[in-house]
Amino acid sequence: MGNSKQAQIFVNALSIAAGLILVGTWLWLDAPLKSRLGASHQSDSSIAGADFLHESAIARLENQLQNARALFDLNATSTPSLFDTHDIDLVQIQFLDFLNGEFLDARPSLFGGSLSNSSESNFNALSHWNAIISDAPSQTLSSNSTMNYVQVGRVARTLIIAHRILYDTSDTLQKLLSNVSTKSNNSDAKVDMKQSLTRIIDTATDALFPWIPPTFTSIRSMQTSLDDSVGIVITGGNHHAHLMMHLISTLREEFNCTLPVELFYAGPDDLNAAHLKQFNQMTNVTTKDLHQYFPQETKRWQKFSAKPFAILASSFRTVLFMDADVLFFRDPREILENDVFRRNGLYYFKDRYYHDSAFQEGSFWFREINPYMSRYGRTLSYMHLRRTDAHGTVHQMDSGFIPLDKSRTGVLLSLLLACKMNSADERDEVLYKKSYGDKEAFWFSSEILRVPYEFNPYFGGTLGRKDRVQSFFSWRGIVCSSTLLQANEKGEPFWWNGGGILVDRFKPYDGEFVDFDAVGIDPVGQGTWWVWRHPMICMNTSWMNVRWLSRRHKQMLRRFEGIYRRKILAGNIE
Ligand SMILES: *[C@@H]1O[C@H](CO)[C@@H](O)[C@H](O)[C@H]1NC(C)=O
Ligand SMILES: *[C@@H]1O[C@H](CO)[C@@H](O)[C@H](O)[C@H]1NC(C)=O
Ligand SMILES: *[C@@H]1O[C@H](CO)[C@@H](O)[C@H](O)[C@H]1NC(C)=O
Ligand SMILES: *[C@@H]1O[C@H](CO)[C@@H](O)[C@H](O)[C@H]1NC(C)=O
Ligand SMILES: *[C@@H]1O[C@H](CO)[C@@H](O)[C@H](O)[C@H]1NC(C)=O
Ligand SMILES: *[C@@H]1O[C@H](CO)[C@@H](O)[C@H](O)[C@H]1NC(C)=O
Ligand SMILES: *[C@@H]1O[C@H](CO)[C@@H](O)[C@H](O)[C@H]1NC(C)=O
Ligand SMILES: *[C@@H]1O[C@H](CO)[C@@H](O)[C@H](O)[C@H]1NC(C)=O
Repeated sequence: MGNSKQAQIFVNALSIAAGLILVGTWLWLDAPLKSRLGASHQSDSSIAGADFLHESAIARLENQLQNARALFDLNATSTPSLFDTHDIDLVQIQFLDFLNGEFLDARPSLFGGSLSNSSESNFNALSHWNAIISDAPSQTLSSNSTMNYVQVGRVARTLIIAHRILYDTSDTLQKLLSNVSTKSNNSDAKVDMKQSLTRIIDTATDALFPWIPPTFTSIRSMQTSLDDSVGIVITGGNHHAHLMMHLISTLREEFNCTLPVELFYAGPDDLNAAHLKQFNQMTNVTTKDLHQYFPQETKRWQKFSAKPFAILASSFRTVLFMDADVLFFRDPREILENDVFRRNGLYYFKDRYYHDSAFQEGSFWFREINPYMSRYGRTLSYMHLRRTDAHGTVHQMDSGFIPLDKSRTGVLLSLLLACKMNSADERDEVLYKKSYGDKEAFWFSSEILRVPYEFNPYFGGTLGRKDRVQSFFSWRGIVCSSTLLQANEKGEPFWWNGGGILVDRFKPYDGEFVDFDAVGIDPVGQGTWWVWRHPMICMNTSWMNVRWLSRRHKQMLRRFEGIYRRKILAGNIE
């Protein structure tokens, strides 16, 4: 807590805001547009001659936003009621759903859905925009509000909106607004939109992510520094070296996956010189000291907190993040072809549908700080916990494998917010106290910023040994192990978390391998119970969810054992 936290956000932004409001009003009153759309408002003579809104621009706007007329509030007398209530969180959220292209669209598959109610069809993007911009100066993060995620969310949403308007060239609105500032001869409207938005972005970035410099000068420079690459990011130290080496070798040999790997460790104490040498000898593997990136934050690294920072520090545009202790049944590159990943640039896997009495606070806290949950978010079991429940589903996400395309503004900002939640001043007070580890931060952040995300449809299952006796007598499928198995979207075994093929993942050299014989796949959650038999956990589920391990998978596991013997036990790294 060393930094001065009485940082007032958006100081000096008031005048900018006033300017923007003027620009907005002016745009709204613009004569050519009005006459084209048949509205009756009298134009301000001083700006009536402006020619910045071309017919072609309007046509494009209409194409892209289906019914763009409402953007300019045809019947200028009707003020949207939401604007009156000045509930800035809702205003921001509706505007983000609008930027996501959800306007006047009622498909039940929509992500956000805040604009799909007919009663809200009087949504007016311009008044929302004005409200957002004029609220910016009052958004502060005081010393105490570091932990106040209502405020954090508000400032972060202002940031993502400003960033998208300024830089995401695909947004028609951005094009319109940028032409307003450059083509205008009106003195009041001669605000340099670009400059003021940059200032808003810089102030919010400083308040939320003060550790970005000197690694990067800005979020934008982070985004533009990315090339077109796809690569694998793994974090780990000495205790995980054998697992990481095995993981990389299986990907290379089994799937011919030559993707470059960036392996992040936290300083020389974390990964010793001998290990570094071994990894550096592997083809297309680079070891990176995380302390060299965002040092102000990463030097205060602790357990899981390194993960989002490593993803951020990676030079890859598309990152396939993997925990050190995962292994794959299918080529991880398959996820890049997945429709959901292509659409969202993100893909999240669910944790086990596991009832617990600990960490329930996370669900209540999250609903409190994020009052306008997305339509998609409301479908998650995590959101349905009640105070009266003795046990609930308090684990939503498994962060063992996360693919993300950082070139997308939403994905990058969501990752940044996940970093903030995992940063030293906050994780112990908030995230790690209310939920388990780093994992929920990823989707919490996407939800707060209204960045479309989706979970794989299957809940976490298991790769283990079937308890034949208990299964038979309880007419159930019971599989025990310490692994968490993820299926792909078709229900086929994809990857698993929890130590690969070792009986004890922290005993790298005893050469003892697990003899897996069954998989448990969980399509629905309800009706599956997880029962501890330390150090294992048993999945007790419908018998239909349990299958014997296929011959093909057994052979694959034999090959993985062979790789382990060759690469780790015999120390044969190339
Ligand atoms: C903005 O201005 C440029 C040229 O100055 C023009 O080509 C473009 O069509 C304008 N865009 C819009 C949306 O008006
Ligand atoms: C504008 O007002 C007219 C008459 O009241 C109404 O028929 C029309 O639907 C309104 N248009 C919009 C976009 O609200
Ligand atoms: C739509 O409106 C109904 C009734 O006004 C409300 O209960 C519901 O929450 C609204 N839905 C959304 C997505 O805002
Ligand atoms: C933060 O606010 C809470 C109440 O909201 C108060 O009890 C606490 O003392 C404050 N802490 C600091 C450091 O100001
Ligand atoms: C803006 O002013 C300049 C000179 O001051 C003039 O040449 C130009 O035509 C004006 N543009 C518009 C759109 O009025
Ligand atoms: C992997 O590559 C090798 C050599 O290029 C080739 O012989 C082998 O068939 C490939 N295996 C797979 C599974 O594609
Ligand atoms: C290393 O990675 C690059 C980029 O993906 C790839 O083109 C190249 O073939 C890889 N090299 C080897 C030897 O695997
Ligand atoms: C599995 O769950 C069923 C209830 O669905 C229960 O009757 C049975 O005792 C459980 N078996 C074990 C081994 O936990």
